[in-house]
Order: sequence, then C-alpha cells, then structure tokens
Amino acid sequence: MTTVDLEDPARRGADLAEPSPQLPGALPANRRRLGAVQVVRTRAELDAVRNGLTGRVVLVPTMGALHGGHRALIRAARALGEHVIVSIFVNPTQFGAGEDLHRYPRTPWADLDICTDEGVAVVFMPETDEVYGPGLGIRVDGTELANRMEGAVRPGHFSGVLTVVAKLFGMVAPAAAVFGEKDYQQLVLIRAMSRELALRVEVHSIPTVRETDGMALSSRNRYLDGHQRVVARALSRALRAGATAAVHGRSSVLAAAQEVLDAEPELTVDYLALTDPQLGPAQESGPARLLVAARLGTTRLIDNLAVTLGTDR
Ligand code: PAF
Repeated sequence: MTTVDLEDPARRGADLAEPSPQLPGALPANRRRLGAVQVVRTRAELDAVRNGLTGRVVLVPTMGALHGGHRALIRAARALGEHVIVSIFVNPTQFGAGEDLHRYPRTPWADLDICTDEGVAVVFMPETDEVYGPGLGIRVDGTELANRMEGAVRPGHFSGVLTVVAKLFGMVAPAAAVFGEKDYQQLVLIRAMSRELALRVEVHSIPTVRETDGMALSSRNRYLDGHQRVVARALSRALRAGATAAVHGRSSVLAAAQEVLDAEPELTVDYLALTDPQLGPAQESGPARLLVAARLGTTRLIDNLAVTLGTDR
C-alpha cells in the first residue's frame, strides 16, 4: 500500500511505483500539500486497508479528473459513514470503439489533492489488469433499459459501467455508494443492479452540481473551447425551458426544450426524452424526468432535470 504524504516534499514521486496512464510517476512541483491520503493500487493492498476499517465504509466510484461535482459526492459520502473510499479508474469497457478512452482527462495528482482536501481515507487507483484480469470475463447485462437513450447511442456502455461497479462493490465491500444524478440512466441502472443482484450496497445519489450559468459540471467539459462552452449552455437552458412548460403537459415540455436546442445548429442532438422518474413512459401528470444528449464538435454532452407535469393545457 502507498501512503502519499502531501506534506512531505521528499516523498514526491517516490511513493508510487511505475508511471502509468492511470497514475503518472512524477508530481507537479506546484501541487498543494494538505496532509496524507492512502493510495492503494492492488486488490491485496485494498484488502489490507479495508480489513482495518471499522464502521461504515462509503464508496465514491469515479474515473478521475475530479471537479466540484465529485467534491459534492465525497461530502455526501462523508455524511453517510465513517470512512470514504474513492476509486479512480478510467474503465475501458464502458467506452465504445472511436470514443474518447485515450483522450479522457487524467489528472491523478490534482485528484489526490482534492481527495485529501475532502478528507478521503483511501483512494483505490487500480490498473486495468487488476480489475479485469484473469478470469472468464463475466459481465453484467443491463437489459432493455441499458439499450435505450445512452445505450442506443453507445452500445455496450452500460454493460461496462455495471460490470465495473459490481466489481468495485465486491472489492471495496462498502455499506453504501454515492453517484450523481448527472448520469441519471446510469444511476437508475446501478440502483436496480444493487437491488436485484442483492449486492447489499445502499445506492445514494446527489443532485447535479451546476456552474452559475446552469451548465452541469462534467469532466468532459474540459474538451470545450470558449465558444463551444457558450453553445453548450443550451442543454441546461433547454431543460429549464421544458421544466417551465411542464405545467402545460408532456408535449409542451418537449416542444419548449426542442425550440432551445434548435436555436443552436452546432449541437447535434442524440436524443431528447421525457420519461417517468424510473425512465419508463412519462405519465400524464406528476413527477417526470427530461433527458438530453448532444454532440458538439467531438465532445458528447448529457444532462437531465426533474420536471413536474401538470394538466393545464
Ligand atoms: O460515472 C462515472 O464516472 C463512471 O461511469 C463510473 C460509475 C465510475 C464507472 O466507471
């Protein structure tokens, strides 16, 4: 196991083994020093640390490139138990051919600073072989819901997500795990998986963390240039327009959101969908979810919002 003592400049870079795409070996000179965080990279190291933890352990699974949304997840996790374990693993099986696996942002040292800052006890940063190697390659299939919306555009994506989350649940053995509503379809599927496979992990969620202009925080926002960042606001604007129109019923929601999206020709909309909160067909009235996904240049953006449907036609 590796303890990265951010107070001790002499240990910079020496604590962690070989450089890797997940965890480069050199520490930037200007990094903040904030205390100590335990970094474990193998299942054996994780077991050793995990066995020493008493009380509720709460897992925050991430792919790194941490931002304010992850800070909020960690804070929610701290309120749910005694020890927070953050996993940082860019999971190859949830990326399709031609997607952004190889350019997905990797900022391990900044991530460790954030984890230390937020009082995380342990960071699990495994290599791919540690998670996937050797075995029969058993995977979790998300069924019909995994093939709609995100799943229709990204075939196999949710099988990759569910498989790695099931593995992380098994490796970390947390009492609870926290996910963001930003990836709403993922959240619904993980909740169903934990329940239906009796994984005995409580699945908690927090609302999407947004910039002041409404844009949902996402690691992929780093891909956007200044102009695209302005165009990208249309997603959250469309959702808010839909929510405002919700009092007039389902078709008004979709029409209002579509109008905002149509005004930004640079956006290629993959889907705009209105569902019930469990992602089934939206009812006539009551709670619903409005979800959107669009491409902007080479960047894919998703967002969603709770809406309350009325019958004021
Ligand atoms: O939401 C994410 O960052 C990923 O899909 C997750 C849940 C960490 C699985 O790789």
